[in-house]
Amino acid sequence: MIGSFKKVFFSYDGVNPILENISIELKEKQFLAIVGPNGGGKTTFLKLLMGFLEPQKGQISLLGYQPPDMRQKIGYVPQVLRFDKHFPISVEEIVLQGLLSKLSWLGCFKKADIDLVDEVLESVGLSDYREAQFGSLSGGQAQRALIARALIGGPDLLLLDEPTASIDNKAEQEIFTLLKLFAQNKTVLMVTHDLNALASQVDHVLFINRTLTILNPADVCGHFAMGVYHPPLRST
Ligand SMILES: Nc1ncnc2c1ncn2[C@@H]1O[C@H](COP(=O)(O)OP(=O)(O)O)[C@@H](O)[C@H]1O
Ligand SMILES: [Mg+2]
Repeated sequence: MIGSFKKVFFSYDGVNPILENISIELKEKQFLAIVGPNGGGKTTFLKLLMGFLEPQKGQISLLGYQPPDMRQKIGYVPQVLRFDKHFPISVEEIVLQGLLSKLSWLGCFKKADIDLVDEVLESVGLSDYREAQFGSLSGGQAQRALIARALIGGPDLLLLDEPTASIDNKAEQEIFTLLKLFAQNKTVLMVTHDLNALASQVDHVLFINRTLTILNPADVCGHFAMGVYHPPLRST
């Protein structure tokens, strides 16, 4: 097991509950999709898992540690990152940001780190874009560069918050295919609205709308994929 929530309750203001009684065990090498309406608590769930937020009640653990100690074992691709197209930063520099926490105070990146950049860029299909300006990439390429940044630290858990929200279907499919591949040796947890394209590929679907319901892909109603959310008919 890679981590767990046990009867977790969370509220930002101590009055309005955002997540209630959340329990789940995350296993190794799973590919999981998180779906649910806007404001349902999906991003909050990821932030709790990473230890950015603390639950009022219940327990969260990752690989047997409390979340803050485990952050370097987690790769995170946050929701909607808008970059100034003209901000001068290369793809290589974006990817190296993923190693900043491992850099000593007076550190420089070493040859081994630079080699790692090659490795992760290849794994997301961006080998030819290392020197390119980040702002010149297409939406799908930019998202893959951010995935490379999340991968470079060698995480056991890869979290992605709506990584395909602003890109076309083809680019989205390419990213799903990559994530499925990464899930062969790490747990991949992705928030998405595009369940139609994904339902058949994931191990489980986590439906989050204040509470959590874990669904098998086969039980996911087609309405979900069209954004029509209703209480699940059957859960695991
Ligand atoms: N920093 C915050 N302070 C107060 N309320 C917040 C904060 N972030 C999110 N919320 C509220 O918590 C609820 C869940 O938000 P969020 O987890 O972002 O949902 P989702 O990602 O499913 O759209 C929403 O009602 C949102 O307005
Ligand atoms: Mg969100």
